[in-house]
Amino acid sequence: MGTARDMIALLRSHARGDDGEFYARAMQVAAREARLGHQRVASELKAAIDEAKAQRPGGGGLLVMQPRPELAGLVSVSTPDLRLSAMVLAKETRERLQRIVLEQRQARRLREKGLRPRGRLLLLGPPGTGKTMTAGALAGELHLPLLTVLLEGVITKFMGESASKLRVIFDAMAHTSGVYLFDEFDAIGARRDQRNDVGEVRRILNSFLQMMDSAESPGLIIAATNHPDLLDSALFRRFDDVIEYLLPSRPEAGEVIRNRLAGFPTGPLDFGTAAEAADGLSQADIARACDEAAKLAVLGGAETIRESDLLAAIEERRRAYRPGAGGGRS
Ligand SMILES: Nc1ncnc2c1ncn2[C@@H]1O[C@H](COP(=O)(O)OP(=O)(O)O)[C@@H](O)[C@H]1O
Ligand SMILES: [Mg+2]
Repeated sequence: MGTARDMIALLRSHARGDDGEFYARAMQVAAREARLGHQRVASELKAAIDEAKAQRPGGGGLLVMQPRPELAGLVSVSTPDLRLSAMVLAKETRERLQRIVLEQRQARRLREKGLRPRGRLLLLGPPGTGKTMTAGALAGELHLPLLTVLLEGVITKFMGESASKLRVIFDAMAHTSGVYLFDEFDAIGARRDQRNDVGEVRRILNSFLQMMDSAESPGLIIAATNHPDLLDSALFRRFDDVIEYLLPSRPEAGEVIRNRLAGFPTGPLDFGTAAEAADGLSQADIARACDEAAKLAVLGGAETIRESDLLAAIEERRRAYRPGAGGGRS
């Protein structure tokens, strides 16, 4: 019944080099056969899948895959199981990210009419506000692998041949659909007038812009940086979306805390007080403070997470940025 459709999906994911999707599909077929009472076929299929996975370099599970050989050392590949709904985002940011997901899901329909789905994003903002996480969540939403470009692999190790390394990555985009993340993008995108480089960085940026302009990539290209001020102004208009990430508002801080502690009993803990105490901290810092308080509760055998522990953990995070300030010495 569904066989032809399964075959098509399998072929497509194979052609894309999307192992995660390929094996997930194959497992679905096995599960369906089992439901139909075809136990023999189902277990043969499962065994074949396990065998195939085991033969992949590095044992290739579903979560971490080996990049194609030519990409080794240039990208790391994963298949994040993350969704946008797991993120705390400003309303407008969420809407823009959802629009990207929608256009990507409907890419074929758009392309048929000569339209290009949004696929090039520049994410800007202070550390710990969710830029890297966004790349993972988009990959999760689109069931695409996340290919994080190892910039030190592209730049440092291959001084002089960085542009050709970049070419390898852009070439891969044509046949391996995925979310390509250029994290810490300022390493590439630094202003071309900065004098501390010896032409190489400028060459890399020029190549990057050219390749991005001509790339016919299905999937996403995401550049993220904590230092937008360092970026060359020519860069901004080359992206379909430039999305700015900010430190959380107080309600957003509360939401981060609530989400992060969702799996723990919190008793009378006042989220508003905790959110207020977290003013000025990033989402990542707040998440980490929650984890610290949760650990104390677990290890101390406490029934619920104590507000005092959470407030102390938040204070500790804050002090990490201002050593000496409010450290109890004054
Ligand atoms: N907007 C957010 N919503 C929920 N959790 C977040 C958010 N931003 C950051 N976090 C938490 O902090 C961690 C680090 O964030 P990350 O995406 O690496 O920040 P950035 O790349 O902007 O420096 C995330 O894995 C997540 O646990
Ligand atoms: Mg990051």
